Amino acid sequence: MPGAIYAEGLVKTFGDVRALDGVDLDVPEGTVLGLLGPNGAGKTTTVRVLTTLLQPDSGSAVVAGIDVLKHPNEVRRSIGLSGQFAAVDEYLTGRENLQMVGQLYQMSARDAKARAGQLLERFNLADAADRPAKTYSGGMRRRLDLAAALVVSPPVMFMDEPTTGLDPRNRQQLWEVIQELVGGGTTLLLTTQYLEEADHLADDICVVDHGKVIARGTSDQLKARTGGERVEVVVHEPDQITPAREVLAGYGKGEVAVAEHTRKLTVPVTGGAKLLAEVIRDLDTRGVEIDDIGLRRPTLDDVFISLTGHAAEAAEGNGDAGREDAAGPSARKEGAK
Ligand SMILES: Nc1ncnc2c1ncn2[C@@H]1O[C@H](COP(=O)(O)OP(=O)(O)O)[C@@H](O)[C@H]1O
Ligand SMILES: [Mg+2]
Repeated sequence: MPGAIYAEGLVKTFGDVRALDGVDLDVPEGTVLGLLGPNGAGKTTTVRVLTTLLQPDSGSAVVAGIDVLKHPNEVRRSIGLSGQFAAVDEYLTGRENLQMVGQLYQMSARDAKARAGQLLERFNLADAADRPAKTYSGGMRRRLDLAAALVVSPPVMFMDEPTTGLDPRNRQQLWEVIQELVGGGTTLLLTTQYLEEADHLADDICVVDHGKVIARGTSDQLKARTGGERVEVVVHEPDQITPAREVLAGYGKGEVAVAEHTRKLTVPVTGGAKLLAEVIRDLDTRGVEIDDIGLRRPTLDDVFISLTGHAAEAAEGNGDAGREDAAGPSARKEGAK
């Protein structure tokens, strides 16, 4: 049985650009799919097709059991979407924005007001609640947009790079909100450029590049393909590189990489913090003085390099599923609902 979000063979071209080159997805009900990829991979285009904002050239999609191409209006009633300021009206205050969304979803004025108040607290916007959204900083708008997507809990939610541009504290809070949402049974498709985020939130991950899914699996499976975590050690003196290398080789699941000029040694490992403590003890026993040591998880770049042989491009873009442009119907009012 197809999942709550199902897509087969999605193709979308913009002139010469094949933004989607045959994307297949299947997200079981009540689970979170992380769509992970660098800028320009096709994440937003996928979200826009699945949320009825954009017609694919070919392929099919079913969301919440409804055919996306045949019944877009019904699909819109069953989903929530958060993209780049998709639902935010600049001239309304934060509070008015959230109340308006509630009323569009047929909440009573009193319920909409209560829900708005709750969400403003939740997203640290209470102090700015009664200022027009156009006075908000980028991070505040992003939080307001996310809050707007959470006014009601639809059975299927899409979030396009929800935490891009958020500081660590707000990111952490948003993760908690998302986990609660999913705990309540919502199916979620989330796009991100950060493996760490997908790792934290997603049951399954699809890695996309150039409009194609190039790998799928759980976070553990992908990391195993990438060689797991890395221990990084910076030794104090150049002549300590050799003994340090011998120690690390005993723990490594792959080659020990050495950068002579920075005296840094890196090795893929499995075993986490416990292993790190053992490595430190062993280095100490061998008399190796260390300037720095740490366990680092594979980054999206590590995953990319291992999957594609090339690095993901510089990450600077935002999620922007809700943007308005010539390619799709207006996302502002009806699209985002
Ligand atoms: N409306 C559009 N017009 C022209 N090209 C577009 C449009 N939307 C997306 N693209 C192109 O399609 C590719 C995929 O874009 P997108 O889905 O936004 O990637 P991502 O969200 O992963 O960064 C990019 O090369 C992008 O420039
Ligand atoms: Mg995008």
